Amino acid sequence: MYLTHLSLTDFRNIRRLELDLQPGLVLFAGPNAQGKTNLLEAIYLCATTRSLRTVSDLELVREGAEAEGPPAARAACTFVRHGDTFTVEVIVAPRGWPAVSSQAARRIRVNGVPRRATEVVGLLAAVFFSTLDVELVTGPPAARRRFFDLLLAQTVHGHATELNRYARVLRQRNQLLRTLREQGGDEAQLDYWDDLLAAGAAAISTARAAVTPALALHAAAAHAALAPGESLTIDYRPAAPSGVAPPTDASSWRAAFRHERRRELAAGMTLHGPHRDDLSFALNGRPLASFGSRAQQRTSALALRLAEAAVMEERLDEPPVLLLDDILSEFDPERRLAALSHVAGVSQALLTSPDPAHFAGVPLAAAWHVHAGTLRPLALERA
Ligand SMILES: Nc1ncnc2c1ncn2[C@@H]1O[C@H](COP(=O)(O)OP(=O)(O)O)[C@@H](O)[C@H]1O
Ligand SMILES: [Mg+2]
Repeated sequence: MYLTHLSLTDFRNIRRLELDLQPGLVLFAGPNAQGKTNLLEAIYLCATTRSLRTVSDLELVREGAEAEGPPAARAACTFVRHGDTFTVEVIVAPRGWPAVSSQAARRIRVNGVPRRATEVVGLLAAVFFSTLDVELVTGPPAARRRFFDLLLAQTVHGHATELNRYARVLRQRNQLLRTLREQGGDEAQLDYWDDLLAAGAAAISTARAAVTPALALHAAAAHAALAPGESLTIDYRPAAPSGVAPPTDASSWRAAFRHERRRELAAGMTLHGPHRDDLSFALNGRPLASFGSRAQQRTSALALRLAEAAVMEERLDEPPVLLLDDILSEFDPERRLAALSHVAGVSQALLTSPDPAHFAGVPLAAAWHVHAGTLRPLALERA
């Protein structure tokens, strides 16, 4: 899969951009705070329909855009997937403008036709590599569940809808548990929600359990190439009550919820289920988060992202677009080359870096200098 064109309007610090792209390695270089990450973020938005680092969608709209008419941030990616060309377009605008509103409305179109977010996720398959990825290894479990969610939403049909439904049922079940704890009532009301939550939990944990072996295998292989002599293992840790069989079917989840009902009523919330799942990482058998050095954690996070890309390629029958945001500068030249050789095999990788010298001798399809949200061709020194 590869992008052929990126079109942006009032997207963060980019006023207007029409950029043709080609397969292979494309470099965006330039000093800090010029818009390199913003470019990749726009592509990520088209791929996942989520913004990368923003709490409010409205932060995507260029400051000052409102002086020139109704403000709206627009990102459109044209790409080739299995030989067919698609354009995904996402428009974010304040609700009810010109009245001041902190809420954003989001419109999504595919080839000009309005679509729901859940229909669009994964049409453009992309993997985003960030310097913050080390948090996948060292941070709280929520980051790893998000990792699962995005990988599966982009590769399993209907998974995004399943996740939304699960979240909704979980909220309502938690509300009921709270009410029963605080005001009492008929506990049998829980049966209905148990059934719904069990069905969702089974679907989600089945998808996570199914993808983990391939993920672990690819991560171990990528890691071995980056750090010979060290072995990375990854395990899925489903949040099921102890003593319950590996919960990938709805009936064992239902049994688990019945079994835990007393405790959940006392807690006033749902204590088990995929919303509490985790992934564990070990290096040479030792927990990576507590035993690994920072460099080992970074290398493992990179291996995990490479594995994500490999799993996507297997499942989609085509490599995803790789978005590498400034991650290679952190590695020594040897590892940088190992990572690049991994990446060079895909159809397209877009890389950002403050230092184009890191890419001397690397065969780039194109290189751009990014300055204050504008691009100009970068002359490369040939090594
Ligand atoms: N909504 C916005 N309107 C205008 N500028 C923005 C907006 N959001 C972010 N920026 C600017 O974008 C720049 C950061 O861009 P970024 O892509 O993160 O830089 P880098 O080149 O370091 O990756 C900062 O100067 C920031 O002020
Ligand atoms: Mg950046």
